[in-house]
Amino acid sequence: MKRNIDISVSTLTVDEADEVIKYAKSLQGIADFMHCDIIDGKFAPKATYNYDVVENINQNCLTMLDVHLMVEEPSAEIDDYIAAGANILTVHYEAYEDKEKLNSDLIHIRNCNTLAGLSFKPETPFKDIKMFCFNIDVLLVMGVEPGACGQKLLPNTFSKLKKIASFREANKLKFKIEVDGGVTEENAQTLISAGADILVSGNAVYKAKDRAKAINVLRGL
Ligand code: DX5
Ligand code: ZN
Repeated sequence: MKRNIDISVSTLTVDEADEVIKYAKSLQGIADFMHCDIIDGKFAPKATYNYDVVENINQNCLTMLDVHLMVEEPSAEIDDYIAAGANILTVHYEAYEDKEKLNSDLIHIRNCNTLAGLSFKPETPFKDIKMFCFNIDVLLVMGVEPGACGQKLLPNTFSKLKKIASFREANKLKFKIEVDGGVTEENAQTLISAGADILVSGNAVYKAKDRAKAINVLRGL
């Protein structure tokens, strides 16, 4: 049976909050998730909007929300994003000095009936985050440095995905593997074969003439 692949469309391609909401509405019924990239300007450069925009998207469209927090202090913001309507809420491993707090935040997110996501920067070795994979629903693998759309996928992403997929199988875990950054129509199927279940797309969808068609091509249809 063919695996189900979800496409999560990034909001980072659009600067203005009003335009982000329009963009999300235009993709209702087409994108599986809206991937809300939240940046504080410290964890990664160029700050974006915050939970107000997530709440506004949630009130104006039915698409599920995949919130990616690229902020230095995620613990302080988790409850706001859950209240704003996040369906998946992803925090970064590198944002936590106290790794016990990371674990308790992941458990807290799940206890709030939200899917818990964990992400890690390209230079962070997967072995460092393995122990946290037992309490997550989604592992968000960065294919580029966090912070900007339109970067080129780092080539070691493919082998990283394969390693993660075999770790997941060996431990009988169920988390979804999501790839973020540098996904294109050309590399999407190779990423899926390597283990990706969810593909994030910024430019590949935003810049396409026919966005619905681009999403289907990414899915492999
Ligand atoms: C990068 C963001 C990504 C980015 C993806 O920090 O997390 O979601 O917007 O954009 P593309 O698909 O253009 O690389
Ligand atoms: Zn992202």
